[in-house]
Amino acid sequence: MPAIEVKPGIYWIGINDRTTDLFEGIWPITQAGVSYNSYLVMDQKKALIDLTREAQEGSFLDQIEDVLDPAELDYIVLNHMEPDHTGALGRIRRLAPQATILCTAKAKDMLDAFFGITDGVQVVGDGETISLGNKALQFFAVPFVHWPETMVTYEPCEKVLFACDAFGGYGALRGAIFDDQCADIDFYIQESLRYYVNIVARFSGPVLRAIDKLGGIDIEVIAPSHGLVWRHDPGRIVSLYQHWAQYATSPGDPGVTLIYGSMYGKTEEMMNAVAGGVAKTDIPMEIFDAARTHSSYILPSLWTKNGVLVGAPTYEVSLFPPMTQVLEMANHKRIKNRRAAYFGSYGWSGGAYKDCVKLTEPLEWEWVEALEVQGRPSREDLHRAEDLGERFANLITKG
Ligand SMILES: Cc1cc2nc3c(=O)[nH]c(=O)nc-3n(C[C@H](O)[C@H](O)[C@H](O)COP(=O)(O)O)c2cc1C
Ligand SMILES: [Fe+2]
Ligand SMILES: [Fe+2]
Repeated sequence: MPAIEVKPGIYWIGINDRTTDLFEGIWPITQAGVSYNSYLVMDQKKALIDLTREAQEGSFLDQIEDVLDPAELDYIVLNHMEPDHTGALGRIRRLAPQATILCTAKAKDMLDAFFGITDGVQVVGDGETISLGNKALQFFAVPFVHWPETMVTYEPCEKVLFACDAFGGYGALRGAIFDDQCADIDFYIQESLRYYVNIVARFSGPVLRAIDKLGGIDIEVIAPSHGLVWRHDPGRIVSLYQHWAQYATSPGDPGVTLIYGSMYGKTEEMMNAVAGGVAKTDIPMEIFDAARTHSSYILPSLWTKNGVLVGAPTYEVSLFPPMTQVLEMANHKRIKNRRAAYFGSYGWSGGAYKDCVKLTEPLEWEWVEALEVQGRPSREDLHRAEDLGERFANLITKG
């Protein structure tokens, strides 16, 4: 895609990555892709804000050259040191050795550690403004959104906030870069939630503090480094982030995340009965096969819903390993205070349920009941499973 003017003298340049399978080496983006957005601010002085991954640096340079010769750059602003935004730094530096790098004090340390760069770096303070002529760049530290060194940059003339990871989402840009041009905004909102829970959720406290801190600033455009540029309704993505961050301390909305796994179909039979019970109520439910669904897709449901039904067999005296992985990931993301119930089949000793309880102790999950069946569930067991599903759904509706 060519450079696109966001506001007079401010350009989006960005890379759509549709070939990386795993973002951060963990999270699948094969279907959705991701964009790395950067911005050029052109005035008497010229600044490039955030870069791209090393693998994409070739096309990135072409885009910069659509707007200016890199040798004319005065500043390179590094809001965040993660390599999805700094990978191209080595090459850009060689082409623009005159440009001063602007970053926080913590990022300066990291620049040395990651790139061996110590010269031509200017540390900017929280709230500091640097003039570009008519335009200016103002910097606000937003520690842990997403790393400790992270800041955002604000251009007060055109009222654009270059937010880096904050307010970003998965989803390569499909031609349109702006929220008002986008025909499938629901896709980006869904992928922003998945990105939020995968990448940012652990730092929900810092996200709320950053939103509070930036509250007094007049913002017309939110220009993040992943996903859509919000110029029509910038408040929408801010409210969504605020809403998602609040789940870190709330038990979630009434709803069921039903996660199951099954080797030979016995637990799966129970799962169908349990789901039938939940479906008798009008409580929303999402069902995931833990062995076949990456936790990236399960986490958003766990994050936003208050009830968890876990169906898993016993495997070597323990919980079926794909389920263990999901519950460990829930621990990583600190998905606390959920209500849960267990069902599953075992052959001789059992052991899956005790692992569920143990794994979720740090998360303070309340296990309200468990249905353990030896071998194949009988008709009576399946009735019990259905009743369990209905009872559980009614219980969590009450909050
Ligand atoms: C590899 C493997 C390990 C197992 N380990 C145990 C075990 O340690 N204790 C136990 O009670 N059952 C164990 N079982 C039996 C299963 O829990 C039992 O067959 C159960 O019905 C499987 O449910 P599913 O059909 O939903 O996979 C094991 C089964 C397999 C295939
Ligand atoms: Fe990041
Ligand atoms: Fe990022």
